[in-house]
Formats: sequence, C-alpha cells, structure tokens
Amino acid sequence: MNSMNVELESKEFPCPTRFEFVSTCIALHRCIAEDTWRMTVEAPELARRAVPGQFFMVRIAGQNDPLIGRALAMYDMHRDKSGQPLAVSVVYTVKGKFTTALSQHVAGDRVELWGPLGNGFSTQPTDHLILVAGGVGQTPMLTLAAAALGKAQFGDPVQPTGYAKRVTLCYGARTKAYLAGLADFEKACTEVRIATEDGSFGHHGRVTDLLKAILAESNVDCRIACCGPEPMMEAVSEISKVHAVPCEVSLETPMACGIGICFTCVAKIKQMEGQWDYQRTCVEGPVFDAEKVVW
Ligand SMILES: Cc1cc2nc3c(=O)[nH]c(=O)nc-3n(C[C@H](O)[C@H](O)[C@H](O)COP(=O)(O)OP(=O)(O)OC[C@H]3O[C@@H](n4cnc5c(N)ncnc54)[C@H](O)[C@@H]3O)c2cc1C
Ligand code: FES
Repeated sequence: MNSMNVELESKEFPCPTRFEFVSTCIALHRCIAEDTWRMTVEAPELARRAVPGQFFMVRIAGQNDPLIGRALAMYDMHRDKSGQPLAVSVVYTVKGKFTTALSQHVAGDRVELWGPLGNGFSTQPTDHLILVAGGVGQTPMLTLAAAALGKAQFGDPVQPTGYAKRVTLCYGARTKAYLAGLADFEKACTEVRIATEDGSFGHHGRVTDLLKAILAESNVDCRIACCGPEPMMEAVSEISKVHAVPCEVSLETPMACGIGICFTCVAKIKQMEGQWDYQRTCVEGPVFDAEKVVW
C-alpha cells in the first residue's frame, strides 16, 4: 500500500482540503445484493480519520476509462486486533462506466482512493435519530447509526458518540433483491423499517410512508438524516418541514475532483435573506441542512 498526505491551501476558499491519497489492493470484494457490491481496502489513515457521512474518491489503478474518480461514501470502518483503525468498506450499485468496471475486479487488484472528503453528519444530541435511505443511499447510514448509539468511534480527534437515545433506519428499495446490508443495520440500529416499491419485502410503497408514520406517532425530540435519489430527499425535506423536525440531507451531486477545485459538484444553497449561492458538495457538503437546499 502506498499512501501520501496532501494539503491544498486556497486564499479564495477557506478550506485547506487535507486528504490522504492511497494506492492499495482490494482486500475483500463481494456481491451483497442485486447489482450491489461491498469492497474493503486496507487504508489505516483513511480509517483513522473518516467520520460518518464523509466519502472517498475512488479510481481503478492504471485504468484511464473512466479517467475521473467516483465518490463513494464510507460504509464501514474496521479495526485490527489491537483496536487500531485498519480498513474501510464502501458499497456501490452497478450503474454506469465506473461501477461496471469496478465490479469486474477482484481481491488483490489495485485501486486508488483519496479522502476522507466532505463534512459528515452533525452530532447534535436527540432522542430519536431517524435515518431515511433510498436506493444506495443507505451507505453513509451504518457508521452514523453506530456512532449515534455509542457503538463505535470515528475521526481524529474522535467525534462525540452516543448522541441519540434511539436510531431507526427507514430504508426503501425497488425490490427485496436490492436491499443491501440488512444484517449490518439490524446490529447497528435500534430498529429497521423497510419499504419496497413492489411490496416484495416490508411495507408496499415508499420510504416516505415509513417516515410519515413514525413522525405521526412520535412525541419525542427527533432529527432526520437522509440520503438517496434527489426527488426522495426533496420529499423528505418537505415532510420534515411540516413536522418541524431538523433534517440533514447528503447530496449525491456528480463530482470530478472531490477536493474543491473543479466546481462540477455545486448545489444551490440558500444564504441570508432569501438569496442563494452555489456551494461545493465535495467541500461544504455533501451533508447540508435540508431547509437550505434549493431543490
Ligand atoms: C458524496 C457522494 C457519495 C456517494 N456515495 C455512493 C455510494 O456509497 N455508493 C454508490 O453506489 N454511489 C455513490 N455515489 C454515486 C457515485 O459517485 C457514482 O456517481 C455512481 O456510482 C455512478 O457511477 P458510474 O461511473 O457507475 O456511472 P456513470 O457512468 O457516471 O453514470 C451512469 C448514469 O448515472 C447517472 N449518474 C452518475 N452519477 C450520478 C449521481 N451522483 N446521481 C445521480 N445520477 C448519477 C449518469 O447521469 C448516468 O445516467 C456517491 C456520490 C456522491 C457525490
Ligand atoms: S468535485 Fe471538484 S469542486 Fe467538488
């Protein structure tokens, strides 16, 4: 494994983007659901520093098509026998160029990663943290659930943990075959509720139905963290507004550099007094206050 620390200072943007570039071999690579793969790589520095909601840019070493890396959220972090951070896992769904190519690689093949990137989810205390995930949007939720319930620690310096009394994952997929990592989530969360569009598992309908039902019966302080297709995040944002529940969304805006240079990843974010400005999802995000996103 080769690893290099990189720091970019910018006068215009106050974001020294400090990231680790790692060239390493795939340690484990397996199909965990329909078209969905879990890849684990040994990368101690990434594992030591990454917090829930952050992501890595990933490329296949020595391959120039696609040339540009793709952002993948940290799914899990693994420690060695002495408890030191050792490896990270990502989970991805085969969609286009990069994910198709990556799925054809096996343990021992070389990949390049840089990160950890982005801001991560907030650690504000709450009685009930409701995670809402659609499609492959469940990927940043596993570490978030574990940190919120005090089951795992992340970051350097270590982030606060145990900031939620209860964590519910509401997870929506097209069909049962696409549900990925259910056993992991059942271990990490207090409760997992599933919705499938075809009714093949759990509630027959949308993940937003699950969220509405929880909020309708809740009488405690709640917060929502959401990731998935944009229309679903917009719908969740609307529901959170109706119930006056704080909501964070993790945007999946396509990215090129991942480190704040190219501006391919900008999203419209509300500023003071009704104005909006572009912000980089890779630096100021990917996690934003849902109320501030111009959908
Ligand atoms: C912060 C962040 C975290 C992410 N985490 C994950 C993750 O954990 N797992 C995962 O599978 N993917 C994740 N993604 C999306 C991922 O970066 C790739 O965009 C996706 O895997 C498709 O790459 P591809 O090369 O296979 O498809 P491409 O060949 O790039 O595109 C295939 C099709 O998908 C569309 N598309 C590409 N990217 C996106 C996007 N971001 N949103 C909507 N449509 C898109 C294209 O327009 C095209 O129609 C994340 C994105 C961001 C920004
Ligand atoms: S991806 Fe280049 S600035 Fe965000």
